[in-house]
Amino acid sequence: MKKIKTQVAIIGAGPSGLLLGQLLAKQGIDNIIIERVSGEYVLGRIRAGILEQGFADLVREAGVAGRMDSEGQVHEGVAIAVDRKKYRIDLKNLTGGDVVICYGQTEITKDLMDARAASGQTTYYESDDTALHDVTTDSPYVTFKNGGEEYHLDCDFVAGCDGFHGVSRKTIPEDKRTEFERVYPFGWLGLLSDTPPIDHELIYCKSERGFALCSMRSNTRSRYYLQVPLSDKVENWSDDAFWEELKKRVPDEDVPNLVTGPSIEKSIAPLRSFVCEPMQYGNMFLVGDAAHIVPPTGAKGLNLAASDVATLYRIMCRVYQENDRDCISQYSGIALRRVWHGERFSWWMTNMLHDFVDAALDNDLDSKTFDRFMSSERNFFLENEEGRRVIAMQYVGLPYEQLK
Ligand code: APR
Ligand code: PHB
Repeated sequence: MKKIKTQVAIIGAGPSGLLLGQLLAKQGIDNIIIERVSGEYVLGRIRAGILEQGFADLVREAGVAGRMDSEGQVHEGVAIAVDRKKYRIDLKNLTGGDVVICYGQTEITKDLMDARAASGQTTYYESDDTALHDVTTDSPYVTFKNGGEEYHLDCDFVAGCDGFHGVSRKTIPEDKRTEFERVYPFGWLGLLSDTPPIDHELIYCKSERGFALCSMRSNTRSRYYLQVPLSDKVENWSDDAFWEELKKRVPDEDVPNLVTGPSIEKSIAPLRSFVCEPMQYGNMFLVGDAAHIVPPTGAKGLNLAASDVATLYRIMCRVYQENDRDCISQYSGIALRRVWHGERFSWWMTNMLHDFVDAALDNDLDSKTFDRFMSSERNFFLENEEGRRVIAMQYVGLPYEQLK
């Protein structure tokens, strides 16, 4: 057994773990990351990349913003289309200046990994059997296997940044945590292609054939999604079938601008809302997907992870720089207030923009009545400026709550 030591043990090298690690290191707070898979595997995951200003500012504070600021695209607006008619949500004007940055999560992750490697901090990739011990005491430790060796890592705190399937959340005894969950009765079929995007801004489309999203990674790479039944299979969708269906769901005015081409990647993702309360147990904190999942319709997954990181980072700075341990107990409350807001917005956007007519609903409304209510809701919000402002304020993200 090899004994090692750090101040903050971070489980998981996704965006949450890497961003936290970089911020802490910049403040001279020592940390070690333990990751189950390889760095290449982490970078192979294709995920949304709409960054709120709060997230972008954190990346800047971590000193890793070079490529994000030069290559990321500033989006001042986003479109929502209903039955092929387009409404623009003018994010910048409606919020008094806020925008979002479109920069792939893969790119951010790569930048963070490169910065970590350059600064010489330790990451144990391809680790097995990670287990958290004594997290409610002043001397927690983590055990894991790496390269045929068994490790015992002593630390002051554990940051559980190990995603939805990680081990950290399960360290909280079942009678001390509550989990909230909703699984939606459809999935998103995603397609990535080296074709110019249909428009310079994202288009969220509600059509009678179901939801579609037109997104992008750059001026030459597009990302599109179609709502499909959960029972559907990727093999059922040739590239041609995908493009034909997409054309039927996007606004009429945009159809002529759709450039099609071979897919680089195609996959179906289920949609889930999930929250674990509380988000801390003794000296262990859950961060990002380890504690909460949102359906992707509001582009909030990565951004909620970022606000957790911001809160934990500020707490760690207080602990190590001002010797204030009282602030530790604020973590879960602050994180969860913002998480629940993001959960509600993502759930609402999902309800507004998807077709539920043939799907079972888990409330006491039949699906046709639900559809009428949502149709009325869409008109109410999209047809007037105050409604669009309410969407814009939430899309760009609420301000981060400060520590007391
Ligand atoms: N030990 C070590 N690492 C683990 C373990 C384990 N037992 N289990 C999981 N991991 C690793 C995963 O391999 C993954 O690399 O933890 C990492 C978690 O990363 P993410 O799932 O990307 O979660 P997070 O960093 O919180 O990022 C949140 O990613 O899923 C999206 O929408 C989400 O954009 C949001 C962002
Ligand atoms: C994406 O580009 O993958 C993307 C963008 C916005 C979303 C979801 C996914 O809301």
